[in-house]
Amino acid sequence: MTATETQSQKQSPSQLPTQPTHRETKPPVSWPQGLSLPDQTGDVPVLKVSGLTRRFGHITAVNNLSFEVRAGEVLAFLGPNGSGKSTTVSMILGLLRPTAGNVELYGHDVQKHPEVVSKSAGAIIENPAFYPYLSGRDNLRAFGKALGGVSNARIDELLELVRMNERASDKYKTYSLGMKQRLGIALTLLQNPGLIILDEPTNGLDPAGQREIRDFIPELARNGHAVLLASHLLNEVEHVSDRVIIIRRGEMVQQGRVRDLTQKGGVIEVRVEPQEVTPAVETIRRIGGVTNIQPGDAEGDIIVSAEPQVGRDINRALAGVGIWATAVSPRANTLENIFLELTEGSSPGEQDTSLSKRRRFGRGS
Ligand SMILES: Nc1ncnc2c1ncn2[C@@H]1O[C@H](COP(=O)(O)OP(=O)(O)O)[C@@H](O)[C@H]1O
Ligand SMILES: [Mg+2]
Repeated sequence: MTATETQSQKQSPSQLPTQPTHRETKPPVSWPQGLSLPDQTGDVPVLKVSGLTRRFGHITAVNNLSFEVRAGEVLAFLGPNGSGKSTTVSMILGLLRPTAGNVELYGHDVQKHPEVVSKSAGAIIENPAFYPYLSGRDNLRAFGKALGGVSNARIDELLELVRMNERASDKYKTYSLGMKQRLGIALTLLQNPGLIILDEPTNGLDPAGQREIRDFIPELARNGHAVLLASHLLNEVEHVSDRVIIIRRGEMVQQGRVRDLTQKGGVIEVRVEPQEVTPAVETIRRIGGVTNIQPGDAEGDIIVSAEPQVGRDINRALAGVGIWATAVSPRANTLENIFLELTEGSSPGEQDTSLSKRRRFGRGS
């Protein structure tokens, strides 16, 4: 009936060892009875993906992927459409069998112990079947009852978390798509799963709706959840994630802390007269240390991926061909530039509407 991975479970969750202090007010992570739970005070990953591979016929959708997500962090899982994110999510949830490799939740293989997934992973995989004539709050109460009882205080806390407290008494059928989506996330959180998976959580939402979802993602991590945020949208993940892994054609091409990635390399913004862009690009292309060249936002702007000191070489080379740049300014790289560089020349199956809008310099133009 619904879509969260958790709500069909009737048995009440067993108590877990004490969580770190910032979680004291939160209910414990749900956990299936009769399975050992690793010590939560240690550095144990909530999710561990090892050598994960999935082939569909001759297509390798996911290729030898390994990563971990720990409690209290948001890991962005970034890649163009068709790069294998949802396939990976399906394997994490035990819905799809890997061709090779495995997934562990709290140290337990999800293929061998599907009960670990249903108790400790929350993911919205389709639209939950909420009751249209009940309010958002009453819907959560109804689902909470089916789960064996969730306190009203907890439900109010979740409504506040997903910014639905003001509309919680209104009927579900009056909600916008964004509100429905947020209520769905609250439903996923009812059982307090240790791992929360958001696969393109803002799909179909307008910018305001997207922002409303983006805003509370860091709060999930602060509350002690491990969050895996799969997205093809850079602006969705850049400011809410602690770490990012970038995949292309099912393979990891980059990973690291967002801060480290955006400081690596950097870009140099070059401004010339609009009619000089073509010869300037040709000249800059020949300079050592330049790894990528893209058009900037304004006409005449050129974004060059290179270390800051290459700025002098750019100035000199442009002057050598009679082009006087009005600006050559190094600045920190954006994740977007990194993402563009890494995913350029994606496979035909991949397409990315967020990127197709961007202009690119054609070679020899
Ligand atoms: N059930 C399936 N059968 C065949 N091919 C599939 C199936 N599911 C996904 N694929 C293919 O695997 C690749 C990755 O898809 P997907 O994981 O949905 O990417 P993403 O979520 O990153 O957009 C695509 O080429 C897709 O067509
Ligand atoms: Mg997908």
